[in-house]
Amino acid sequence: MSRMIVPHTTSARTVRKAVVPAAGLGTRFLPATKATPKEMLPVVDKPAIQYVVEEAAAAGLDDVLMVTGRHKRAIEDHFDNAFELEQALAAKGDAVRLDAVRDPARLASIHHIRQGEPLGLGHAVLCARRHVGDQPFAVLLGDDLIDPRETLLSRMLDVRDQYAGSVIALMEVPPEQIHLYGCAAVEATGEDDVVRVTGLVEKPSHEDAPSSYAVIGRYILDPAVFDTLERTPPGRGGEIQLTDALQELATGGTVHGVVFDGLRYDTGDKADYLRTVVRLACDRDDLGPEFTAWLKEFVAGLDTGTSSERRRLAA
Ligand code: G1P
Repeated sequence: MSRMIVPHTTSARTVRKAVVPAAGLGTRFLPATKATPKEMLPVVDKPAIQYVVEEAAAAGLDDVLMVTGRHKRAIEDHFDNAFELEQALAAKGDAVRLDAVRDPARLASIHHIRQGEPLGLGHAVLCARRHVGDQPFAVLLGDDLIDPRETLLSRMLDVRDQYAGSVIALMEVPPEQIHLYGCAAVEATGEDDVVRVTGLVEKPSHEDAPSSYAVIGRYILDPAVFDTLERTPPGRGGEIQLTDALQELATGGTVHGVVFDGLRYDTGDKADYLRTVVRLACDRDDLGPEFTAWLKEFVAGLDTGTSSERRRLAA
């Protein structure tokens, strides 16, 4: 039984390529990320980055460029064939695991390029210039995991078809969280979930934030962004910021935002990573019923201090 991703749309898309920046050091998850890229940390039983590539494939993007750095070989291996493993599983007749092993390489045409120097997200996107060429393209950040049931990326592609220019994903966050994100100043359009972006600022303080709309890690970018990035000076943190390049494009009136209020998980944050694993495990047909039953008992035990684990440990 194959679990190939079926695109949400069958109409021909003008956007075919996705860029996935994956060069970060993952310091927030040390020591787990000492020898393993943070993008390869498992979310239930798949590495986080596979969800992102599946999301791109589901939106009809069949070409994915990973912008990686040193120590990211595991990502290349994951999206490649694994001949010996496949042969061993085939010999055992284990079709389910054989599919699981083969699926990543079948999702899209996957390419890799190295960023070389950690000069920021804007620089990582600029590294994709030659591969992308003169076409609009998507950027998906691996730390932001959008629930597989959501269709945010398809909606963003529709909005790009309608308005041209670039399209970013926005989500309202509480004021005390806005300093963690790019933040957009917006104007209404006639559509509930689409805004015109009039300005952008990277990780402002709550006092300086122009709104509560945070940029979440999904972008459809017009190729004009490359020329802008070429002249974007280092910004916040001394890094070339994608937000700064988009700010320049927004001034020209060519950036729109899709306001998302669906399920998003921040797997770059430890507590959110744990929540993500629990939520997605509960939703799984194979694991969910048993795991949820255990979880309920565990949580009830936490409240009363009588969980069976605790009793055993205390004994
Ligand atoms: C990046 C972007 C930021 C955006 C965020 C979304 O920041 O620079 O504008 O809001 O991703 O996750 P990072 O989280 O990589 O520091």
